[in-house]
Amino acid sequence: MAGREFDVVTGAFGYTGKYITRRLLAMGRRVRTLTGHPSRASSFNGNLEVYPLQFSNRRDLTESLRGGATLYNTYWVRFAHGSTSYESAVENSRTLIDAAREAGVGRIVHISITNPSVDSKFGYFRGKAAVERLIAESGIPYAILRPTVIFGVEGILINNIAWLLRHFPVFAIPGKGDYCLQPVYVVDVAELAVAAGKDSANMVMDAVGPEVYSFQALVRLIASRAGSRALIVRVPPAIALVLSQVAGRFVNDVILTREEVEGLMAGLLVSKNPPTGTTRLSEWSSRHAHLLGVRYLCELDRHFRGEDGEELWLNGSKTPKSANLLDDSNV
Ligand SMILES: NC(=O)c1ccc[n+]([C@@H]2O[C@H](COP(=O)([O-])OP(=O)(O)OC[C@H]3O[C@@H](n4cnc5c(N)ncnc54)[C@H](OP(=O)(O)O)[C@@H]3O)[C@@H](O)[C@H]2O)c1
Repeated sequence: MAGREFDVVTGAFGYTGKYITRRLLAMGRRVRTLTGHPSRASSFNGNLEVYPLQFSNRRDLTESLRGGATLYNTYWVRFAHGSTSYESAVENSRTLIDAAREAGVGRIVHISITNPSVDSKFGYFRGKAAVERLIAESGIPYAILRPTVIFGVEGILINNIAWLLRHFPVFAIPGKGDYCLQPVYVVDVAELAVAAGKDSANMVMDAVGPEVYSFQALVRLIASRAGSRALIVRVPPAIALVLSQVAGRFVNDVILTREEVEGLMAGLLVSKNPPTGTTRLSEWSSRHAHLLGVRYLCELDRHFRGEDGEELWLNGSKTPKSANLLDDSNV
């Protein structure tokens, strides 16, 4: 890596990218971020170079990557919405990887998902497998990290389960609730990513925590942390989806998609390998109980709406809404 000046992180004002950036800066690295929110206020106090993550301008994208030692790539979309699809996310990822190769980036550390498969019936897992293949075939040395549900104060799934448990008298679990998840702490993911960035071998590893929960046990843990007395009931998945759509109207968000319900129930968010993260959700959630679910975290605000609240794909704006990420600088 001698002579290479800086690392590049996609999404340093987002969730995982913020912790990777924080870790790199703490190590004394110079860091550049590529982000869809270049004007978002952050806790980095100007210690970060900020460039737009622009897939439509390949030349500028390549120039923003030129000289980068390692690209830490967190870019992906949680669900298809408006003009955004998993297919467009794969194409955007292809553009990013091609630009990184052209720019001479030395290594890619890519955040993927546990159990991706090109044959998956789920677009998320299929798309992730497609991007992994693009990286493996890019010729750029790589590390692929496959996390499960990532927990931390900005983590949407666990926070919003807590929010629902705090605000509604009943919480509906899709199906039996016996399907499992193996949550991993966002700081552990960042540490694994940065360690993989320092390595030189091509590698693929799961980024998973030390505890495995059934979904039902997870909801009960979060309920106890949030001090919720909501009735937790098991309902057919289609009913849970309808209820989440009704609750979604209160918060003007897509709380859960059909694919997410089915993906959860398929048990894809666990690893067959030993845990690589050390932080236990049971302990972390106990220390952060006062923050869990206090505020609803809105995916559409984070990634699909402009400052005026209008959906970007309707008004063509390039500036997503900048609110809705908790300032976690003290946690
Ligand atoms: N969060 C989890 O629980 C979890 C679990 C397993 C795997 N992962 C994977 O981990 C990686 C990071 O996830 P994260 O939750 O930390 O993501 P994030 O910070 O919300 O977003 C990561 C990057 O993707 C961009 N992005 C996200 N949604 C977008 C959209 N709809 N349109 C355009 N750009 C979008 C963000 O843009 P901005 O720069 O504008 O913010 C950011 O650059 C992803 O690859 C994800 O698939 C996450």
